[in-house]
Amino acid sequence: MKIAARHSSLITRHSPSGYREAAEVARYLRARWRAQPRVAIVLGTGLQDVVHGLEEMQTIAYKSIPHFPRPSGEGHRGVLHLGQWRGAPVAFLAGRAHLYEGYTPAEVVLPVRALALAGVRVFVMTCAAGGIAPRATPGSFMLFSDHLNFQGASPLTGPHDARWGNRFVDMTVTYDGALRALAGRAARALHIPCFEGVYASLPGPSFETPAEIRSLRRLGADAVGMSTVPEVLAVRQRGARVLAIATITNRAAGLSRTSLRHEEVTEVGQRASPDLSRWLEAILPGLARE
Ligand code: HPA
Repeated sequence: MKIAARHSSLITRHSPSGYREAAEVARYLRARWRAQPRVAIVLGTGLQDVVHGLEEMQTIAYKSIPHFPRPSGEGHRGVLHLGQWRGAPVAFLAGRAHLYEGYTPAEVVLPVRALALAGVRVFVMTCAAGGIAPRATPGSFMLFSDHLNFQGASPLTGPHDARWGNRFVDMTVTYDGALRALAGRAARALHIPCFEGVYASLPGPSFETPAEIRSLRRLGADAVGMSTVPEVLAVRQRGARVLAIATITNRAAGLSRTSLRHEEVTEVGQRASPDLSRWLEAILPGLARE
C-alpha cells in the first residue's frame, strides 16, 4: 500500500511530458557540479563497484535530487557520482529504476533525460543480462548492436513535447558504430571477452520461461534483460549518442541445468565489475573526445 501511494504521488506530480521536471533537475545538477560532464555512465545490477579512482568525486543521493526515482532493487545504490576519470569529467548513475518496480517509463528515464538536458552528449548504458547466443557465457560482455523492445512500453508514448525531439524517432542506427568500434578495440587490447549482439528487453520481473527464450532466439536475440531500452529511447530522441554494454551473468532460462536466481546475477555482475571498470576507464578519454 505504501509503495502504491509513493508511486501515485510521483505520477501525479509529473507534467505530461516530464520536461518541466527534467529541466528542474538539470538546473539543480548544473548548480552543483564543478565541471561539465559530456559522458554519463549508467550502472546496472551488480555493477555499482565500477566506480573507483574518480578524482574530485562528488556524490549526491538520488533521494536528495528532486523528482529522481529511488531504485528499490538490491544491487542498485541510488547515488549519482560526479568526478574526473582519466582527466575527463564524467557522471555515474549508480542504480536505475525499472518498469517492474512500478515506475512509469517517464519516471524511469528522468535521470538520463535530465543529464541530457544538462549537456551530456554520450551515454554508456550498462546492465546485467541472460545469455542466449552460444558465445554469451557468464562473465562475457555484449556490446549492443541493436535491440528488440518487448516491454510493451515506451517513454515516448503520450502527449508529444517537441522540446524533447522528434515524435517519430528514427531507430535505424541506435547504437553508435564509432563508439562500438572504440569499445571493441579496447576490449581486444585488454583481453576482455566481448561480442556484439541484439538485446531483447522484457518487462520482468519474473525471469523468462525456456519457451520464451527459444522464441527470442528465433527472433534474433543474443541476450535478454529487463532494462536499458527505455533510457536508450529517451536519449536517442534527444540526439545523444549511445554505447550499451551487457554483462552476461547467466545462461538464459532452459539453456543450462541450473535454475535462475537474482543473487547469481548480482554475484556474477560483481565479479565481472573489475573487467568492466578497466574497460570503461580505457575508453573514457576517447568517449569524452567524441
Ligand atoms: N533474464 C532477464 N534479465 C536478466 C537475466 C535473465 O536471464 N539475467 C540478468 N538479467
